Amino acid sequence: MDKKALEALLNDMSTEEKVMQLVQIPGSEYEASAEITGIERGQVKDNVKKLAGSTLGIWGSKRLRKIQEQYIKEHPHHIPLMFMLDVIHGHKTVLPCPLGQGATFDPDAVKKGAEMQAQEASADGVHATFSPMADLCRDARWGRIMESTGEDKILNSRMATAMVEGYQGDDLKDSDHIAACVKHYAAYGAAEAGRDYNNTELSEHTLREHYLRAYSEAIKKDPSMVMTSFNSVNGIPATGNKFLMKKILREEFGFKGVLISDWGAVGEMINHGFAEDQRDAALKAMQAGVDIDMCSGCYSSSLEDLVNTGAVSMQMLDEAVLRVLNMKNDLGLFEDPYRGIDMDAGPVITDESRNLARETVAASLVLLENKDKTLPLRKEKYAFIGPYADNKKLQSSWAFSGDDKNTVTVWEAAKEVYEPESIKVSAGCTMLDQDTMTARGKRHVDNWEEENSKLMAEAIKAAEWADTVIMCLGEDFAQSGEATSKVSIEIPNVQLNLLKEIKKAGKKIVTLIFTGRPLELNEVRELSDALMICWLPGTEGGHGIMDILTGKVSPSGRLPVSFPYTVGQEPLHYDMYPTGRPRPENGPSAFTSSYLDCENGALYPFGYGLSYTSFEFINPKLSAQKMSDTETITASVIVRNIGDMKGSVTVQLYIRDVTSSRVRPIRELADFKKISLDPGAEEEVSFVINEEMLRFWTAEEKWESEAGKFLVWICNSSRDGQALEFRLI
Ligand code: GLC
Repeated sequence: MDKKALEALLNDMSTEEKVMQLVQIPGSEYEASAEITGIERGQVKDNVKKLAGSTLGIWGSKRLRKIQEQYIKEHPHHIPLMFMLDVIHGHKTVLPCPLGQGATFDPDAVKKGAEMQAQEASADGVHATFSPMADLCRDARWGRIMESTGEDKILNSRMATAMVEGYQGDDLKDSDHIAACVKHYAAYGAAEAGRDYNNTELSEHTLREHYLRAYSEAIKKDPSMVMTSFNSVNGIPATGNKFLMKKILREEFGFKGVLISDWGAVGEMINHGFAEDQRDAALKAMQAGVDIDMCSGCYSSSLEDLVNTGAVSMQMLDEAVLRVLNMKNDLGLFEDPYRGIDMDAGPVITDESRNLARETVAASLVLLENKDKTLPLRKEKYAFIGPYADNKKLQSSWAFSGDDKNTVTVWEAAKEVYEPESIKVSAGCTMLDQDTMTARGKRHVDNWEEENSKLMAEAIKAAEWADTVIMCLGEDFAQSGEATSKVSIEIPNVQLNLLKEIKKAGKKIVTLIFTGRPLELNEVRELSDALMICWLPGTEGGHGIMDILTGKVSPSGRLPVSFPYTVGQEPLHYDMYPTGRPRPENGPSAFTSSYLDCENGALYPFGYGLSYTSFEFINPKLSAQKMSDTETITASVIVRNIGDMKGSVTVQLYIRDVTSSRVRPIRELADFKKISLDPGAEEEVSFVINEEMLRFWTAEEKWESEAGKFLVWICNSSRDGQALEFRLI
């Protein structure tokens, strides 16, 4: 539909029709039962159901086609309904959780994954996804860190833009693509005390330099939507925050798309103590520029009256409605309300999608320890022990449209590689300690003691039989994601006890950790000969892990987030400030900024990961020792594979602004490149440093660079490398 026709449509709509285009209701309202969203139906009045502009949480080609047919017929202007869904890391073929995708340090792979997700979701009638989650997170206590790509603004920026490009493609009318939604704007990952939905207190420079960067970069790729976050930012709920939504998002970032609230967030401004009632909340959300009210009922109950009484101008309403109509038009819904729906099979998992998932899994795994080259495995007898050894629940709590039955477990993958007589499997213990709380309620196992002693006895027998034991341990999938903040980030006691008992068998131990967040791994590390983070790897988890264990692929994942010695260090991030009393590297801590009982830094730092081969960084250098703000400097290094296996390495460029009008981090990631090298091969890797990369929020409250000395590292993690120096003049 062309612009004129859209405007004519808008002018012909009643005020009620316009208001309802800004209302999103749960998909269960269109369902015979609430089995899809778990939300009881019958929450909204019939006129709302008839006129709501969009719905969420349902999928299925036949189901959505039927709903759309009925809806269009009944709508006075036959405007199509928009279907939205959380396709966060997979629709049918489930990829590693986003934190695992961050660990790939491979935006191209992540873009391909987003393309595949869009294709599968669109074939099921979905028009828009609530992804990428671009929230920066430094706090392992916050369970939604699983949905992020970690603690660094540059890595998050690359991943969020890759996802927007992958979901949306070049033209949203192409029904293999779906609309993207950058969320949760803003700074949701900075929740005080790591407690979900909590207030965030951030200086403007920290907000701008770290937390806003990935949103702003992703918005340059024209995502159809941005979603407001639940939290308040410096005392003002994001959903009613004009500074965030008008000044920064619309004016500075130039975002022209649809601003949608998070579920119920408009109404939650009452709980925040920012709005009197639903009418006041609707007014404040409209004034902040929120176009769609997701499921709070404030717009459907109060917005028409706000317009009729002049509290909200018709112009403000029209602008919001036009953004929603434009989004439907960009999707081609007026011409084809059934775009993408595959009426035959709907999306199916293919060899191609499985292979992409399998490669992404392998690239996401982070090898943290490999004493005496325990890995890759050789032809021996192996016992796979632990609650994750043969567990199909390898997808996160945000992959509900995927089906666990399609998941390949570690044990299933092992059986494809090893002879039956050379492998054994045993769960060894229950996943959790008795009556542990998860996002899905308290986990209670009848006869828990008896069950665990039976499992333990079986596991010990398997360990005594084996040459090497592969322990498959970690956090339950339902202990990360929304509303899963925790003050303890250790693996369950029942699993640690199992590991200690198995250790007594005196065999080599490879420990695989499945998790959606950084965990405390001090004891696990001591008890393991090899240690690898597997995140929540999804449908092809077993295959991807086996490809690494057998050496078919060399591990190349790097940590997208710091793993602490203890939760007491949280929030923890590598790009910390020097302070006036920096602790010397491995030096005495007296009267310096340090702890009496712990290191300052991480047990395993951001950007860290091992390979089966070794890489030498030779002759890191800068093309000049000074540059003006119109020049550039090239930082380069020769990387050589000095081992006997092919491998990939992520070359990381870090920069430090040594003296400036506002203190700057001890180092910050400025760029990275992942390369693959055969044994003995070498490659020169170079990065261009320009003035724009050196900008920050100065003491004069401006986004500028400042002349002076800079240090540069070209290296293999946030903790190594030799510093090079240049001056910006
Ligand atoms: C949830 C989440 C958000 C999600 C939305 C729709 O509460 O905060 O990430 O996209 O509701 O399901």
